[in-house]
Amino acid sequence: MRHSAIYPGTFDPLTLGHFDLIERASHIFDQVIVAVVVNSRKKTVFTAEDRLTMAKASVKHLPNVKVDSFDGLLVDYARHKHIHVLVRGLRAFSDFEYEFQMALTNRKLAPEIETLFLMPKEEFSYISSSTVREIVDRGGDIGRFVPGPVKRHIQRTIKRELGEAHGHHH
Ligand code: COA
Repeated sequence: MRHSAIYPGTFDPLTLGHFDLIERASHIFDQVIVAVVVNSRKKTVFTAEDRLTMAKASVKHLPNVKVDSFDGLLVDYARHKHIHVLVRGLRAFSDFEYEFQMALTNRKLAPEIETLFLMPKEEFSYISSSTVREIVDRGGDIGRFVPGPVKRHIQRTIKRELGEAHGHHH
């Protein structure tokens, strides 16, 4: 039997912390599906398409990792895939309350699905997508916080947007 796990998230954008967790999960499970939520309850800065593209580019060298997107309830997606392990990261104590609530809610909705917590490498424990977004917004260098493909995609996206803005003025 193949053991698979789903690593769900908004990935707005995927960071080195997320990537560290994906690598760890890929060593434990035969297959890992990074599941990008399409309609997040959070308002995202990057479109679902961009978030998916960045995740795919970051994991393409990992043979047992796939990227997919989902809408609706996470447990419905997991059931549909016949996967009963969800992986989430715990960076610090402050993550606990949110993760605890989500894991127990998911367990009430789908008792057969288990949430497994992994800890990212401590040097990534302070990284978050929102700090990355803030640095992007202010024109800083995100190279130490995100995988190379994410950095390059964001740079291209910004150029494209600047080009469009430029086009409007003329
Ligand atoms: N390394 C770095 N950062 C991490 C991290 C790690 N290992 N783990 C979490 N984070 C950070 C992210 O950077 C992000 O930071 P931000 O809040 O500053 O943007 C934050 O923690 C959480 O983002 P992410 O990891 O992308 O996941 P999420 O909490 O947004 O994902 C879903 C939530 C998608 C799992 C959840 O909303 C869901 O399942 N939605 C579907 C609907 C559903 O089923 N709801 C019922 C669930 S109770």
